[in-house]
Amino acid sequence: MTDLKERIAAALREVRDRSLTYTDADDAVLVRRHSRLMSPLVWDLAHVGNYEELWVLRALGGIEPLRPEIDQMYDAFAHPRAERAGLPLLTPREARAYISGVRGRVLDVLDAADLGAPDPLRAGGFAFGLAVQHEHQHGETMLATLQLSGRAGLVRDGEPPPGRSGGPAEVLVPGGPFLAGTDALPWAYDNERPAHLVEVPAFWIDRLPVTNERFAEFVADGGYTDPRWWDPAGYRWRREGEVTAPLFWTRDGGRWWRTRFGRTEPVPPEEPVQHVSWYEADAYARWAGRRLPTEAEWEKACGWDRAAGRALLYPWGDGPPGPQHAGLGHRAARPAPAGAYPAGASPCGAEQMIGDVWEWTSSWFRPYPGFRAFPYREYSEVFFGRTHRVLRGGSWATHPDAVRTTFRNWDLPVRRQIFAGFRTARAAGPEEC
Ligand SMILES: [Fe+2]
Repeated sequence: MTDLKERIAAALREVRDRSLTYTDADDAVLVRRHSRLMSPLVWDLAHVGNYEELWVLRALGGIEPLRPEIDQMYDAFAHPRAERAGLPLLTPREARAYISGVRGRVLDVLDAADLGAPDPLRAGGFAFGLAVQHEHQHGETMLATLQLSGRAGLVRDGEPPPGRSGGPAEVLVPGGPFLAGTDALPWAYDNERPAHLVEVPAFWIDRLPVTNERFAEFVADGGYTDPRWWDPAGYRWRREGEVTAPLFWTRDGGRWWRTRFGRTEPVPPEEPVQHVSWYEADAYARWAGRRLPTEAEWEKACGWDRAAGRALLYPWGDGPPGPQHAGLGHRAARPAPAGAYPAGASPCGAEQMIGDVWEWTSSWFRPYPGFRAFPYREYSEVFFGRTHRVLRGGSWATHPDAVRTTFRNWDLPVRRQIFAGFRTARAAGPEEC
């Protein structure tokens, strides 16, 4: 086996261990609809196997469908999440047997595949990378479901590294063109391609994500009830939903508490705020006299090495994420406090760009110039337009295999169950460029 095949086999093992850990619960927990925003966990479990079957066994391996009668049930576009608990889904035991049967054949296909072939599904192991990243994305989705379930004892926790105070509040990113997106990364999604030059004028960006302490100042200042700070649609959403604080926050005894995986604890001031919608992030930024960064600004601050004239795979360089660089891979079930990862700083000095919390940007999710849908339109193309906002950087719940400087995530501006926060930016004056 080549190194690449060994790496793929290890990544497949790791992601499957993760999925099985998150679904190591009573059947009643797995089949229940915990929120109308989410699928039952047992749907995610069978769906990742079905997706792997579609793209690795059938599209790449040319193998006949194992259970064609279940395809429609696990097609994410055929059934909205709120309705999936009402389908005649595979039971947890059947789902585990099905995905394990798929996996056994996938390893045979991997063994036989020519990953140097020019066919885009084979080159660099693309179809395997698609399956690995997709399953990790569902791992993060499962964590959001487990958080919404309010049940304790289902999710492992850990201790993130300590925060660090001091240092500048913001860093300058000089003006000029930079190379956004990628042509080179074999596992990059269609929406990250092609690489293209973008002219970005000089701007300042927060060195660290906005913390709970800072966000609580916005709340205390009446930020939620002052329409001056809000996008009009966001203000309507806020009023109709009676939103007065981030999701999972409650006020008691003169302080803020949060519920995290079924346990209630004081809101830690130094942690990046999470579970805020795009509308809340946008309102905070306006209240602070700033704005959200565009996704081009975010990507330039994250990975552009001006001295070398090239984009880095990660803020700290091209080496894989280690525990000293970024809060990724669910080492703890929460973001690390601000300043926890100085070794993960980007060339411009921004920290925690990768990991801890997804970061909302001001940009709509749109195709890059020259975009070509691959391998199917429903991954990215059907979401393009003025409906979804771009998020960047991954969260504590994101696995290192499923994030990089160029990675683009997107969601509706009202969504708060995702592990999303933000940082703010402002234009630089002409004397600062
Ligand atoms: Fe999916």
